[in-house]
Amino acid sequence: MQTVLITGAAGKIGRNVVEALGKENTYKLRLADINEDGLKAFQELGYDVIRCDVSNLEECQNVCEGIDVVIHLAGNPSPDASFYDALLDGHIKGTYNMFQASKENNVSKVIVASSAQTIEGYPLDYQVHESTPPRPKNMYGVCKCFVEAVACYYAYEEDVQSVAIRIGAYDDYQPDGPALSARDMSAYVSPQDFNDLLLKTLNTENLPPYTLLHAVSNNRFKRLNLDETKKQVGYDPQSDAFKQSGFLFFDHDR
Ligand SMILES: NC(=O)c1ccc[n+]([C@@H]2O[C@H](COP(=O)([O-])OP(=O)(O)OC[C@H]3O[C@@H](n4cnc5c(N)ncnc54)[C@H](O)[C@@H]3O)[C@@H](O)[C@H]2O)c1
Repeated sequence: MQTVLITGAAGKIGRNVVEALGKENTYKLRLADINEDGLKAFQELGYDVIRCDVSNLEECQNVCEGIDVVIHLAGNPSPDASFYDALLDGHIKGTYNMFQASKENNVSKVIVASSAQTIEGYPLDYQVHESTPPRPKNMYGVCKCFVEAVACYYAYEEDVQSVAIRIGAYDDYQPDGPALSARDMSAYVSPQDFNDLLLKTLNTENLPPYTLLHAVSNNRFKRLNLDETKKQVGYDPQSDAFKQSGFLFFDHDR
């Protein structure tokens, strides 16, 4: 049974990932977050939980002991976050620390959260492939370019198998909730599709040292191209934000 560490486990994506992996009964989970209160519910369910600030290397070294796979989600998800107040600790120091601690503990795979914000500077009608050069539009996107570069460096120079997942607009779509913009519909990824991608990424053997994957749903127009991601891990997204929102391209969509 693989021991999987999830950082940022108390967050929006983390909570859904814990639930999905917990149901599988094939992983031993260790859940880490800086927010101790957010971990309490998991502790009551019997999970191995630990407070860890990923900006502290020593805490990362401790939390990685005995771990086979790291899913690194910790960090502020806001594209408007300010560099010194919200991005430097979580995304820059935190990502370096988690990769360094993973290497020191012989972790076999690190899966790290990147973002569609790495390419947000391209015109909105342009579909981005994994091979398209990054074009961030804000410092959050710049930090996620750093995240991808660190993952690639540790894969090829330090022998840590790494996967960076560019997550789109992650949300649980509510029909009566606020309307999504066309941009958010094209970048939308449902929790179910994201969990499917993550489980397949965990279970796919023989990936190259570094893999860049795209996480958007099966939206009619996709901001991020999915051909390579489908080929690499067999991703099979089901949600379509345009359909869920009632947005019709053609009459036969009714
Ligand atoms: N939500 C999205 O649409 C989206 C899109 C693209 C990428 N992402 C990325 O996915 C990851 C998770 O996002 P989310 O939406 O769940 O965000 P969230 O804010 O709901 O959760 C992030 C978690 O990280 C924890 N955290 C923050 N700084 C930390 C630190 N220094 N040490 C330890 N834990 C820390 C927080 O306490 C929180 O529980 C982030 O890396 C984010 O950048 C999110």
